[in-house]
Amino acid sequence: MGKDVIIACDFSSGQETMEFLEQFGEKRPYVKIGMELFYAEGPAIVRQLKERGHKVFLDLKLHDIPNTVGRAMKVLSRMDVDMCNVHAAGTKKMMEAALKGLIREDGSRPLLIAVTQLTSTSQEQMEQDILIGRPMEEVVAAYGQRAKEAGLDGVVCSPLEAPAVHGQLGAEFLTVTPGVRLAGDAAGDQQRITTPARARELGSDYIVVGRSITAADDPAAAYDRCLQEFIG
Ligand code: C5P
Repeated sequence: MGKDVIIACDFSSGQETMEFLEQFGEKRPYVKIGMELFYAEGPAIVRQLKERGHKVFLDLKLHDIPNTVGRAMKVLSRMDVDMCNVHAAGTKKMMEAALKGLIREDGSRPLLIAVTQLTSTSQEQMEQDILIGRPMEEVVAAYGQRAKEAGLDGVVCSPLEAPAVHGQLGAEFLTVTPGVRLAGDAAGDQQRITTPARARELGSDYIVVGRSITAADDPAAAYDRCLQEFIG
């Protein structure tokens, strides 16, 4: 599985997204469409980015009853996305329904990964707000185990947890890791963060980088730096 840097296009319109991507010239980075952009533009933005030649991770983090998620995934499967996700907290049954819904008529499907604990959640917040009193690494690996049993391809977690996930669930089980900052950039609301270089050492498969690229003075240069540090 090829390692890559995925840019989180957390913008509120297609126009803003296209203007941002124009700064990358001929390059077609792997992009992530999250709730903000998808709620603003709908499936059209996916088509537009795919037509332009980008790989697309549709990050809608579904979390509902199995029937609802399965049916929603069936609709999402019509879009030519490369990766999409659910919350592992929705249970193994929900993840199984998601996977089933995602399989297209020709048998193909996008990668499906499960969010374990958001990278904005600290150990303390997990204990106090979500009432989970176990170490973060253990929680992430246990959620990953459930996702693997459901047939998913990997998890979303912090790079800090990638070694535990790969150690327990195998090198092939993907770790898609947000919570990445170029050295010197502000953490913002993220809690469990590393640099792209450290994410590489820890064995992340894909790093998801938002503000370190989107808020940089020169986004294309920041992207190149991420690629250089993460892939070499
Ligand atoms: O700007 P920043 O690099 O923090 O953006 C990270 C992106 O990854 C955001 O779009 C956020 O929604 C997403 N994400 C995350 N933590 C997760 C899953 C997704 O930060 N566990």
